Amino acid sequence: MGGNNTKKSAVRSVKKFFLLSFLCVLPLCLLSEWLRGFPAAIHFSTFSNNCRSRNVTILLWYWPFNRPYSLQGDVCWNLYRIAHCRLVDQRSLFSSADVVVFHNKELIMGRQKLPLDLPRPQGQRWAWMSLEAPAYSGNLGRYANVFNMTITYRKDADITVPYGELLLKEAKGQLLEDVSVNKESLACWVVSNYRSQHKRSQVYKELNATVPVEVYGRWTKKPLPSSALLRTISRCYFYLAFENSVAREYITEKLWRNAYQGGAVPVVLGPPLSDYKAVAPPNSFIHVDEFASVNELGKYLQQLAQDKKRYTEYFTWTQKWKVKLYTDWRERLCKICLQYNTLPQQKVYSDLNAWVNANNT
Ligand SMILES: *[C@@H]1O[C@H](CO)[C@@H](O)[C@H](O)[C@H]1NC(C)=O
Ligand SMILES: *[C@@H]1O[C@H](CO)[C@@H](O)[C@H](O)[C@H]1NC(C)=O
Ligand SMILES: *[C@@H]1O[C@H](CO)[C@@H](O)[C@H](O)[C@H]1NC(C)=O
Repeated sequence: MGGNNTKKSAVRSVKKFFLLSFLCVLPLCLLSEWLRGFPAAIHFSTFSNNCRSRNVTILLWYWPFNRPYSLQGDVCWNLYRIAHCRLVDQRSLFSSADVVVFHNKELIMGRQKLPLDLPRPQGQRWAWMSLEAPAYSGNLGRYANVFNMTITYRKDADITVPYGELLLKEAKGQLLEDVSVNKESLACWVVSNYRSQHKRSQVYKELNATVPVEVYGRWTKKPLPSSALLRTISRCYFYLAFENSVAREYITEKLWRNAYQGGAVPVVLGPPLSDYKAVAPPNSFIHVDEFASVNELGKYLQQLAQDKKRYTEYFTWTQKWKVKLYTDWRERLCKICLQYNTLPQQKVYSDLNAWVNANNT
């Protein structure tokens, strides 16, 4: 009898233990996932990082676009408060690197090569890094069975490095200023690389036939220096945040910086509406696909610009959210350390080309 009771209570304590660990650990994990993007997460990620006894060494094999940044001092800690993360670019450190990062552009252009002749240390991971859409990623067929990780804007990459994201503001609730003051143009577009076969060029032409569209950039010989970009866009009701490539989750600074930071309502063309909804608040953008025709889109824009109340509602999100841009390669690389411990023990991209082109629209 007594033995049975002991057994029962032992079972009960074991159950209790698991339930408690589950209840304690799960929220912590969820919290850390959820906090990851927020500045407040710094202490938390520092804490979880500090549980590690050694530094993770990230070796960047060459700088993207041949433009180096300073790696003086403990960069990841000093700039991003990410601890135990050693970011280096000296190839002599290859044998001690935990992760070696290769930027795709230089590989496909033939400007850089993988060090396939060097013996890869046990446990070392090779990372493929790219911010380009698949159409500009080249033929990746030769990189089958080479990489262990991907670093790109997609959510399902091992390390997701978006062009931007929204972070909750610490204090919310400033009143909206008059968002339509100073507006001079209905719709603006900045385009340098104009190709008539791009989907965006077709939509632009049709839209321009319905409503006036101001076009800046090299194509119309009205280049905008970066210092004038946001100021110019701020004078437009709408900004055509049209991606040069229509590809799943490919949402660039055209949305985050040009439109959102410029203070114009983005009209977006790129991945499907659902991809935008996953990263941007409702009623903060207008998707081209929401209209039966470009002509109807044009009419909608015209009506909206004349309806101050409804137009202003497109800025409600700014009371709660602020834009965070990612522009520094070091920030993207330091991020590897935050996720290093949760990377799969063993992973090989046996068909990188298929992965990159998966589910593309
Ligand atoms: C980790 O890296 C930091 C910064 O580079 C360095 O100061 C520290 O000595 C390193 N710690 C270990 C255990 O290697
Ligand atoms: C855009 O529309 C304006 C006004 O109708 C017209 O003058 C201009 O040529 C159009 N631009 C293009 C590139 O079609
Ligand atoms: C990385 O990929 C290589 C090459 O396919 C493989 O031999 C190695 O086991 C992988 N390492 C990890 C940590 O996944």
